[in-house]
Amino acid sequence: MKKIVLFVVVCLSAICASCKQDLTVNSPDGTIKAALYVDGGRLGYTVIVDGKDFVTPSALGLQSKRNVMDKDFKLMGVKHSSHSEEWTSQWGENKQHKDVHNELEATFKNTDGVVLTLRVRAFDDGIGFRYEYKVPGDSVKVTDELTEFRLAENGTSWSIPANFNTYELEYRTLPLADVADANTPFTFKTDSGLYGSIHEAALYDYPEMTLQRFPVEPGMTSSCPTGSGISFRADLAPWPDGVKARVPSEFHTPWRVILISRDAAGLVNSDLILNLNEPCAIEDVSWIKPQRYVGVWWGMHLGIEAWYDDGPGRHGATTANAIKYIDFAAKNGIEGVLFEGWNDGWASWGSREDFDFTKPAPDFDFEKVIDYAASKGINYILHHETGGNIVSYEAQLDKALDWAAAHGIHSIKTGYAGGISGGQSHHGQYMVRHYQKVVEEAAKRQIMIDAHEPIKATGIRRTWPNFMCREGARGMEWNAWSEGNRPEHQTILPFTRLLGGPMDYTPGVFDIQYRNIIGNKNLRMWNNNRLATECRCNTTLAKQIADWVVLYSPMQMACDLVENYEGHPAFQFFRDYNADCDWSRALAGEVGDYIVVARRAGEVYFLGAVTDENARTLEQPLDFLPAGKTYAATIYADGADASWETNPYSYQITSREVTSADTLTLNLATSGGCAIVFKPVK
Ligand code: NOJ
Ligand code: CA
Repeated sequence: MKKIVLFVVVCLSAICASCKQDLTVNSPDGTIKAALYVDGGRLGYTVIVDGKDFVTPSALGLQSKRNVMDKDFKLMGVKHSSHSEEWTSQWGENKQHKDVHNELEATFKNTDGVVLTLRVRAFDDGIGFRYEYKVPGDSVKVTDELTEFRLAENGTSWSIPANFNTYELEYRTLPLADVADANTPFTFKTDSGLYGSIHEAALYDYPEMTLQRFPVEPGMTSSCPTGSGISFRADLAPWPDGVKARVPSEFHTPWRVILISRDAAGLVNSDLILNLNEPCAIEDVSWIKPQRYVGVWWGMHLGIEAWYDDGPGRHGATTANAIKYIDFAAKNGIEGVLFEGWNDGWASWGSREDFDFTKPAPDFDFEKVIDYAASKGINYILHHETGGNIVSYEAQLDKALDWAAAHGIHSIKTGYAGGISGGQSHHGQYMVRHYQKVVEEAAKRQIMIDAHEPIKATGIRRTWPNFMCREGARGMEWNAWSEGNRPEHQTILPFTRLLGGPMDYTPGVFDIQYRNIIGNKNLRMWNNNRLATECRCNTTLAKQIADWVVLYSPMQMACDLVENYEGHPAFQFFRDYNADCDWSRALAGEVGDYIVVARRAGEVYFLGAVTDENARTLEQPLDFLPAGKTYAATIYADGADASWETNPYSYQITSREVTSADTLTLNLATSGGCAIVFKPVK
């Protein structure tokens, strides 16, 4: 290993012999060092962590149809700067943030007149870099991005496969050496114990980046070490004609990000992706508020209701049902109610996709329901399922959003379940533009967005805080009509998908094996060839409660049918929960094994712990609580005989007083969990 380190230094100094200027940038604590180099006119970078190779020499650059954008470069100038700032956000896991980094700005010019500035930022928890191009001519058709990630070492990784149309795929735990392609956040632990996650930040007007493995022999080439030989190249979601991005002649890409941490929890606690996004673009944010919600939703996924009137008693969004859900929310102090199937067009979902976003379904008295919700102080959460028909949705967008705003609506859940218009993919530049357009148009009308089948989260919520949450992974719905999410799923999500931003997972099913719908005459199979009664949630009840804390979302849903919550003692946790967090911290965890998270909202603290298929006992110090204060802790734990497979309903609620000096023993059953509310004792 020493030999290789020495060789990198020698190799980089040979490459950089021509450039007198310093092309390196160190993290403020000096543990992470990123360096650029020019090798025969081509550009590349390396990353060294704690004095050891982390990313070995890896290519940089874009390619286009008309201009040479990847070679013949000469260094023109270098600037170094340092940045230290504290900033606040309207909502989030945390409302206080620190952005401390060093920056390297290196400008190159090539023989084709192309000017490229590489901006590299080194933080104590990783690096980010982006391309800033000035290209002769009016516009550029980017045909490829050459960014490489040549990893110095093998290790274990957690990812979903690369796919330009869906993120709703099973997570895989694979040796890095066995990964052929992956979507980001691509999380890994090296054999020497460092954690990393490759992702992107501030994805605007550009396609998403996925990772494709390419062959490199491990060891050395003639000039440089190639590390482990485990090398990935950026692969961008294309337009139907194969072009990757259509950009103006002066443009910059999203940030390419590598989070780096000594422990798994450190990845979760990183603010790096938000720090690489621009400050809030919305002047008045007072209307943007986190909320808990229930909704007319789960019945459709279970197949006992439908999104439209496809048979007697089947339509979920009837006026009577809506009133029932509003009453339940009002009685339990829950802020919002979602109604799916409220509008016209569902009968053609999956075919013509002609949804109408201002025309309520005939058996849904929209005016009555919205007035009733307002009279009870409940937020009406509107639903816009587009089925992927972007042409139709964009044609209606202004009218639909004006109509919603005129009805006092501040929250819309959008959906893109279907093929995208014109053969576009879900994650290409066309759709990145679309998702952004919806968020910006919604912001003008003081509307918050929760997008399903979205583009990946890249921290845009800092700039556009009305983009509350999104789906973008397998959520609860998969448990209603498939083999369901595996017990380890919720122990992988926080270290992968959630590194990008909050997810609308919709936790909280109490009827875990759907016992209460057995014999329901309205039950139908509607998706994936499985009847709900052949499905289940692969967790215990306590884990469902803990998910409300672990799977952070500023719009947090209790998704079960309200009749399953009525009179249930464990629902008290959701009544006490507050989606408007001020502070959060992952306290412990290992990817795919378990995680413990603490959050604070006002003076109340919450703790959530979940485990995979293995039962586990965790000794959890409460040193995150302020010293010298006593808290009344209410603990929702797995029962002593709980197990997700055979006894998922067994739980216990206990109470005790605690201080920051205490350590709690958390006994988690197989696929179990524990949730705790800490209220200050006055
Ligand atoms: C998929 C979404 O994820 C789900 O929440 C929604 O109910 C259906 N599409 C219908 O819009
Ligand atoms: Ca979905």
